[in-house]
Amino acid sequence: MKNNFDLKEFKKKNYSIINISSNVLKSKKDTKTLLKSWDNLKLDIYIKNKFKYRYRAYSKFSYSYEDKLLNKLKNQGFNQSKKNNILFGNVNRKFSDISNLTLENSIFKNIINYDIKILKKINPNIKIVTLGIHQIRIKTKKNNPGIPAPEGVHCDGHNYLFQHLIYKKNVYGGLTVLFKNNLPIDAKSMDDFMDTVVVNDKKLMHFATPINVKNEKNHGYRDMLLVDFKINK
Ligand SMILES: [Fe+2]
Repeated sequence: MKNNFDLKEFKKKNYSIINISSNVLKSKKDTKTLLKSWDNLKLDIYIKNKFKYRYRAYSKFSYSYEDKLLNKLKNQGFNQSKKNNILFGNVNRKFSDISNLTLENSIFKNIINYDIKILKKINPNIKIVTLGIHQIRIKTKKNNPGIPAPEGVHCDGHNYLFQHLIYKKNVYGGLTVLFKNNLPIDAKSMDDFMDTVVVNDKKLMHFATPINVKNEKNHGYRDMLLVDFKINK
């Protein structure tokens, strides 16, 4: 996987698949702490499946490119339209905030700053953006797949998305699939820390295939950090 974001390629394809670990990895200790924070995520109560497979936290921010300030906004829930999310659209879903320990983690900050920087490359004129940051764990166990995208092929209803793989344990599957005009155009397995998909959410739709356990004696999981951007100005 490539390490550098290629603006020309992104503009042409409306997505980019890269590994950004060399841009964000500065401290091993903080990386370990960040990875561990996924163990503390709370259950996503909106999943009605008997096997509770999704755990998450969510926080919202605004960022001003002029002041270089990231401001945490009040968490008033996560909303999507029925058009973008056939299962949970028009439901104001409340998730726990991302913990302060995570928000202050140097690697976490590096990832968000990297995404903010790339967004400016894509849109040199932007001034203010709203960011939605999602920490998500999808679990699986024997005979119980974990479903990363129960809503099916969809767009999130933002301008741009950054999907970062954090960690995968004892799972296979979970391919990220991108669609243009309802046809699949690429599918990629995210395997390594900081494998990243950058997507123009206005042009493409996305999906992730279910995950299953490799060794059925144990549970498995797939941890992701998703950052969505809405351009305000
Ligand atoms: Fe999505």
